[in-house]
Amino acid sequence: MKTLLTSSYKHAAEFIKRSCVVAFPTETVYGLGANAFDEKAVRLIYRIKKRPSDNPLIIHVNSKKELKSLVSYISETANEVINKFMPGPMTVILKKNKMLPDFVTSGLETIAIRIPGLQLTRNFIRECGVPIAAPSANISGKPSATNFIHVWDELNRLIPCILIGPSARHGIESTVVDCTEEIPMILRPGAITFEELRLIDPRIKYIKGSKLIKSPGQKYKHYAPDAKVILLEKGKLPSKSVGAGYIGLNQNAKKAKFRKFYICRNEKEYAKKLFSFFRECDSENIKTIYAEKVEETGIGLAIMNRLKKASG
Ligand code: TXA
Ligand code: MG
Repeated sequence: MKTLLTSSYKHAAEFIKRSCVVAFPTETVYGLGANAFDEKAVRLIYRIKKRPSDNPLIIHVNSKKELKSLVSYISETANEVINKFMPGPMTVILKKNKMLPDFVTSGLETIAIRIPGLQLTRNFIRECGVPIAAPSANISGKPSATNFIHVWDELNRLIPCILIGPSARHGIESTVVDCTEEIPMILRPGAITFEELRLIDPRIKYIKGSKLIKSPGQKYKHYAPDAKVILLEKGKLPSKSVGAGYIGLNQNAKKAKFRKFYICRNEKEYAKKLFSFFRECDSENIKTIYAEKVEETGIGLAIMNRLKKASG
């Protein structure tokens, strides 16, 4: 199959209307989307990604009105989360109504919904005229793609169209918050932080390394490059650096003998660069990547969540 690269969202939407899948940009990571009402197209996403069928997809919509049309109940806290953080890098889990078919939520009674912050994404969804079911645009288990070149490297010839947009501003996936129960719970930390969410509802929970798996996707191996990822304590460098990759905040990494390194100015840049650095190392055939641990506060919580999975 030939893969078309286009920067026209109207052109890309034509593919969705013809039951095809399209990779598209968002401000978190690139997504691989299909018409959420179209079972055949949604099944294609699973096949292309080699995604386990019990792992439901996020439904991307264009507006709060569209979001409300797909769910049966929105609690007061959920409403505040929606009003404060949407559109943006935020996904809420709500009780679904009968509008959406079961295949798109892996049979769950709940639905993950997101309104992307990037205007281009919303234009694309509006042009499609339907909610867009989409996971991240990568083969299951691999790091998410944060620019269209990485999507191309991985999905070229497997999908008919990639909508070109800017590199992802956040670089890690949206924060997923389960709002189906009285006390909301963070299922996946992301760019919207625990601290920000606690301002809305101080009862909100996040159970680190939780065995309690409410988000089916969280039990699978994730975010892993081909290279082995080894975590370094803050400020530490490995005794052997020759041939390896390094990402972190430690300025001294410059003086070591890493084959490739990226020293981030702050945690925000760390999050943004992490997955693309993993992919660049793989393409240069680097076998070991050292990644510096960060404090698990603010965006650091999401970085550590991804690093633990990539190294675990
Ligand atoms: O930033 C993002 O969220 C990106 C962009 C493309 O929107 N999407 C993304 O999708 O990361 P994906 O499929 O890679 O991750 C979705 C996560 C999975 O862990 C999945 O299990 C969880 O959301 N999820 C989806 N529906 C759910 C539901 N009804 N209940 C609990 N978790 C759900
Ligand atoms: Mg993913």
